[in-house]
Amino acid sequence: MVANNRMNRERRLRAYRRELGVDVAAFLASRPGARWLDLCCGTGNALSEAADTVTGDVEIVGVDLVDFFAVPPRPPRLQLITASVTAWEPDAAFDLITCVHGLHYVGDKLGVISRAVRWLTEDGLFVANFDARSVRRADGAPAGPRFVRALREAGLDYDTRNRRLRSHGRREVRLPYRFVGADDQVGPNYTGQPAVNSHYTAPNR
Ligand SMILES: C[S@@+](CC[C@H](N)C(=O)[O-])C[C@H]1O[C@@H](n2cnc3c(N)ncnc32)[C@H](O)[C@@H]1O
Repeated sequence: MVANNRMNRERRLRAYRRELGVDVAAFLASRPGARWLDLCCGTGNALSEAADTVTGDVEIVGVDLVDFFAVPPRPPRLQLITASVTAWEPDAAFDLITCVHGLHYVGDKLGVISRAVRWLTEDGLFVANFDARSVRRADGAPAGPRFVRALREAGLDYDTRNRRLRSHGRREVRLPYRFVGADDQVGPNYTGQPAVNSHYTAPNR
């Protein structure tokens, strides 16, 4: 896991819309009582903005490894939790789960993705920035097109051009990849920030 002060932790809702291709405020407004979980939420700016602007009942939860939150929590409408997304567990399902440029810094990315998709409501949406090239075989080689195929076979929609992962509705994701370790010395990824590669034993087929 990596967290440093060169990271852009301060994105607001407009930037979330650009990075995710999802209008979070409109999504929440369209579902009365909606619950939104933002993994690796940074300062919480986008969450606070949504808590201020979306009318009606909404519950927003942000989780980040470090408590650099720039906004006060207002439970139950806005909760900010200091924890690792690799270990934290929610106590209820979410209509929307996002992760904006957070998975790049996580060791077991596939573990986090599988857990998040399990926390969705039946018609919930998971969307995250994700670089498939950061998933490596145990020897360091890119997991490659076979890995992207495995994602799609597991029901996850990977947009290679925008490097976004989406999934609809709660599901058990079974990927034939086992986490063996991570490398935080690989240098910048496509965002220009130093990122973490995640290594997995992969199927031979
Ligand atoms: C590039 S910032 C993005 C923050 C926010 N999503 C935004 O767009 O403004 C990445 C965030 O991931 C957090 N992070 C890294 N590893 C994490 C982990 N294992 N659990 C929770 N947060 C993590 C960092 O602390 C940092 O705030």
